Amino acid sequence: MKLKILVTAGDGIGPEVTNESVAILREVAALGGHDFTFSERRIGGVAIVKDGTPLPADTLAAALDSDAVLLGAVGGNEFNSLPPGKRPESGLLQIRSALGGFANLRPAFAFKELAVNSPLRPEIIDGVDILFVRELLGGLYFGQPREWNREANEAWNTMRYTRDEVVRVARVAFQLAQKRRKKLTSVDKANVLEVSQLWRAAVNEVAAEFPDVAVEHQYVDAMSMHLMNRPRDFDVVLTENLFGDILTDESSVITGSLGMLPSATLGGKVNLYEPVHGSAPDIAGKGLANPLGAILSGALILRHSAGLETEAVAIETAVRRVLEQGFRTPDLARANPQGFPVLSTTEMGAKVRETVKQLLAVSC
Ligand code: IPM
Ligand code: MG
Repeated sequence: MKLKILVTAGDGIGPEVTNESVAILREVAALGGHDFTFSERRIGGVAIVKDGTPLPADTLAAALDSDAVLLGAVGGNEFNSLPPGKRPESGLLQIRSALGGFANLRPAFAFKELAVNSPLRPEIIDGVDILFVRELLGGLYFGQPREWNREANEAWNTMRYTRDEVVRVARVAFQLAQKRRKKLTSVDKANVLEVSQLWRAAVNEVAAEFPDVAVEHQYVDAMSMHLMNRPRDFDVVLTENLFGDILTDESSVITGSLGMLPSATLGGKVNLYEPVHGSAPDIAGKGLANPLGAILSGALILRHSAGLETEAVAIETAVRRVLEQGFRTPDLARANPQGFPVLSTTEMGAKVRETVKQLLAVSC
């Protein structure tokens, strides 16, 4: 298996966490005789500083020329006063748009071992396994017109979707639901927004193609509450860009830490993989970052861009094993009544890597 991976580590903890993910992917390649090549390019704040733009042309060209892009994180406090189009985040939005992936898969899985880290009661989060499918290229993030008119002291963004944009992401979500528990929850605000009414109609249209999948619709405000009260009731959750951004951060509370969540963006020219967490500038460079979200994003590369399901499962199993053995990063040890060993970013990466090696050696 040949795979060309571009790593855009970005800002803050991005380089630390992607390093650990890459080391594990290298190990998988070595064990299975696969030919994975990795190159690196700048994105976000580091690119603003060195290249004067958050998405340099050579980064974009290298991304389009790869089989998969692994992104760390973008953003930093020193850029907070820049207008949206010049900020590090704009580099991320530009690369998402150029690669064309519209279906952002964000699994939120409650590891039993981490229940103590969640402020929710264990009986509420036990067994939670949700797959969010966030539409990534439409809605308020990309809708025109958008402007802050300073003279008028007025600003506006546009939440806009076409039927076809909803249909294509809904199909991905229904297909995934078919392979899981055959239940799909579509989230909108159809009691207030026309764009949500179109969203709901388009989702219902696609639902007719998937009679084996049970569909329900929830308003986003109610959904944010249900996710805390009864998260186990949800399997695939389909939603538009901004609602998905908000609900997936919320769902990290169930998993115990935002540092655990991976994502894969599919459907475009090149798939994009990124942990859900941000650049966390306050802990950058200190070895405090949790690399598991980035490592699990590496597993998603193997699954969705390389078709290496056994290897993807090996990484996911290794993460579970390491947690079962009691190893934690600082974000997973805020509550640590049992005094589990707290590892640095590289130590955690090494533990998972060793375990992957053992698992794959057995299965070979
Ligand atoms: C995410 C992030 C991004 C988003 C930011 C960094 C632009 O919050 O991936 O969830 O809003 O999509
Ligand atoms: Mg977000």
